[in-house]
Amino acid sequence: MSHDLGATEAGSDTPNLDFAGTTPYEDYVQADVLTHLQHLRSDDPGEMVFLVTTQVMELWFTVIVHEWETASAALRRDDVPTALDALKRSLREMAALNDSWRPLSGLTPAQFNSYRGSLGEGSGFQSAMYRRMEFLLGDKSASMLVPHRGAPRVHAELEKALHEPSLYDEVLRLLARRGHPIPAEVLDRDLTQRYEPSSEVEAVWTAVYGAQEIGPAAGQGAPADGPVAADAELLRLGEVLTDVAELVWRWRNDHLTATRRAMGAKTGTGGSAGVAWLEKRAGKTVFPELWTARSHV
Ligand code: HEM
Repeated sequence: MSHDLGATEAGSDTPNLDFAGTTPYEDYVQADVLTHLQHLRSDDPGEMVFLVTTQVMELWFTVIVHEWETASAALRRDDVPTALDALKRSLREMAALNDSWRPLSGLTPAQFNSYRGSLGEGSGFQSAMYRRMEFLLGDKSASMLVPHRGAPRVHAELEKALHEPSLYDEVLRLLARRGHPIPAEVLDRDLTQRYEPSSEVEAVWTAVYGAQEIGPAAGQGAPADGPVAADAELLRLGEVLTDVAELVWRWRNDHLTATRRAMGAKTGTGGSAGVAWLEKRAGKTVFPELWTARSHV
């Protein structure tokens, strides 16, 4: 946004100081709201960064969900350039999200213990926005709605996301519309269930990847400029999705490592086995056929 927050005084080049009510910056950013949402539960000085890092990550989840929903809607109307733009923005946002592990990455068990007790049963497992990210990736699960039964707005948003096609479903529908043999049982699948890899989908990606070399504009951070041949566009889409998958994997692994450092093999505040449970979660492959197809190209 612009830092030119108001008209300057006549003849002066200093910023405007005179506002009748709250500043236009406040009206837009709501910084006063945002910076007073840190309700600490302990006297430990290290709790602040734990809470704010979690809040910052929630905000990034929100931005990333917005990008992936933008991409899904664009794919639905065959607007691949808009989808690519949104997905590429999300790559930079995911890189920033992943960098936000840094303040917590060296937490020792004693430091974490100083406020861990005051978290009660609170756990990131109960993050609805993270769950919406997973749903968009195709990792659907109705049971993940259960913790949110008591929060009507959150529950309604999650329920809607559960029934909608994931980002990957939209990609597979686009591939089918472009003449690729995506099986009917994949296209008509029960959208509320976790996406299961299909050998036919793997063969489609193998064909897309085998068809031609990718141009220099593909991949992370590249602009989606200029007209591209229809199949080159699909290859570009495949590569951006692979970048997304890789950055999700990194987030999960950085979380796992920070957890292992901060609490070893203790059980989680959310009631899981902790690191052992997170290891299984981190082992899941995002957009599976985009990885397995590579063995056949
Ligand atoms: C170093 C500090 C952290 C530790 C020790 C930790 C620990 C854990 C543990 C043990 C779990 C498994 C569920 C449970 O039993 O609680 C979990 C899940 C989770 N945590 Fe953290 N966490 C930390 C920081 C964060 C932060 C900053 C976020 C950001 C929002 C976060 C988000 C999540 C999410 C989304 C899950 C669910 C993962 C899934 O469903 O696969 N965690 N965490």
